[in-house]
Amino acid sequence: MKVLIIGSGGREHALAWKAAQSPEVQQVFVAPGNGGTALEDTITNVPIDVLDLQGLLHFVKTETIELTIVGPEAPLAAGIVDRFNEHSLPCFGPSQMAAQLEASKSFSKAFMERYGIPTARYNSFTDHDKAIAYIESQSAPIVVKADGLAAGKGVIIAQTKAEAITAVEDILKDNRFGDAGSSVVIEEFLQGEELSYMVVSDGQHILPLASSQDHKARDDGDTGPNTGGMGAYSPSPLLTPELEQRIMAEVIQPTIEGMAAEGNPYTGFLYAGLMVSPDGSINVLEFNCRLGDPETQPIMMRLQSDLVALCLDCLTGNLHNYQAKWDPRVALGVVLCAGGYPGAYRKNDLIQGLKNSAQDGEKVFHAGTVLRDNSVLTAGGRVLCVTCLAGSVEEAQQAAYRAIAPIEWPNMFYRRDIGDKAVKQTPAAPA
Ligand code: AMP
Ligand code: GLY
Repeated sequence: MKVLIIGSGGREHALAWKAAQSPEVQQVFVAPGNGGTALEDTITNVPIDVLDLQGLLHFVKTETIELTIVGPEAPLAAGIVDRFNEHSLPCFGPSQMAAQLEASKSFSKAFMERYGIPTARYNSFTDHDKAIAYIESQSAPIVVKADGLAAGKGVIIAQTKAEAITAVEDILKDNRFGDAGSSVVIEEFLQGEELSYMVVSDGQHILPLASSQDHKARDDGDTGPNTGGMGAYSPSPLLTPELEQRIMAEVIQPTIEGMAAEGNPYTGFLYAGLMVSPDGSINVLEFNCRLGDPETQPIMMRLQSDLVALCLDCLTGNLHNYQAKWDPRVALGVVLCAGGYPGAYRKNDLIQGLKNSAQDGEKVFHAGTVLRDNSVLTAGGRVLCVTCLAGSVEEAQQAAYRAIAPIEWPNMFYRRDIGDKAVKQTPAAPA
């Protein structure tokens, strides 16, 4: 069987690497892929943009691809699954309507309100003056979000009302996020610890994936600007069996049931970004209609059962028969970034110190890289995710930082404290 993965990040490298291990799979293509996928023996990059739906459709037909897995949100929000379904081509992900759970914050907030799914108090505005009047009536810190897809950059945690007002002006008046910012959501600031909870659904049945935790802020101690994610580990000791039951009952089940009831059954991966507060309450910060990046990298390291079988079972209505098998060890990934990220950064720096051979329990997933004349060059802000599997969080952490030591390029940086929080928490049974 031939499989196509759409996307070019670390998540897609991990999905392609895992798909290639399936005994059913002869060849994995990645569109457009990166330097890491280019280096894998059983993986082939194809230079088609993730939003070139016509080009992707044509490629899938010509190559007789039997399964397409969509990595990022943009093609899902653009309706790739609907397009492929019109041609009876199996494509793993939610429909365009269902992808609104991520693509429109106003949609997802209103949806959560309709079904009593816990989330921060909010209001949404298209009118600048009304937004400002609302901010004036609230207290800081307060959170301002551009409504649409803004590559993780459309959320501003304003420490003061003045900062919140500037953010609203940037979004609504100055059009900083283009169409994604034609309306804003202003919501209450929540305190606590973030947890990424991901499941697979066929529209009715739900299969939870292993738990994980990301590190969104750029700098050590969760300081500095928000990023797409600077490192992750799985499982998360924060997720006790009791908490997991509550997340399923309060968040995931009502979401899947609500989407089905509204005629938009949710199929594919669903990611709930949750805030677990010190008082034990859980709130949804966001839904993503895709897997997390970098959470996918440690999760794929731990997945022992067949990823391709999982997706096919889901697409053929057999999800309830699929048994996910997880490595009981801890996987931890540290993201190496180009200086300047999440702002402007330089590209085309030569990456030194990458090993050719893969080592058991250690994998360098590529994100923003390109292979040129047998050299791997930087091509993005988040460049690599060095991921290790070990008996404990501390061991996985030590292994990952040891594996990073020989890797370098000018201005590379990374967080030194990935997993520290988990080390301090009492480990729960892996989920
Ligand atoms: P979002 O894209 O909505 O998940 O927001 C990105 C990040 O901003 C989250 O992962 C949180 O770290 C932070 N964030 C979003 N909403 C809130 C909130 N209401 N309170 C505190 N932090 C938030
Ligand atoms: N790591 C967070 C995300 O993928 O949205």
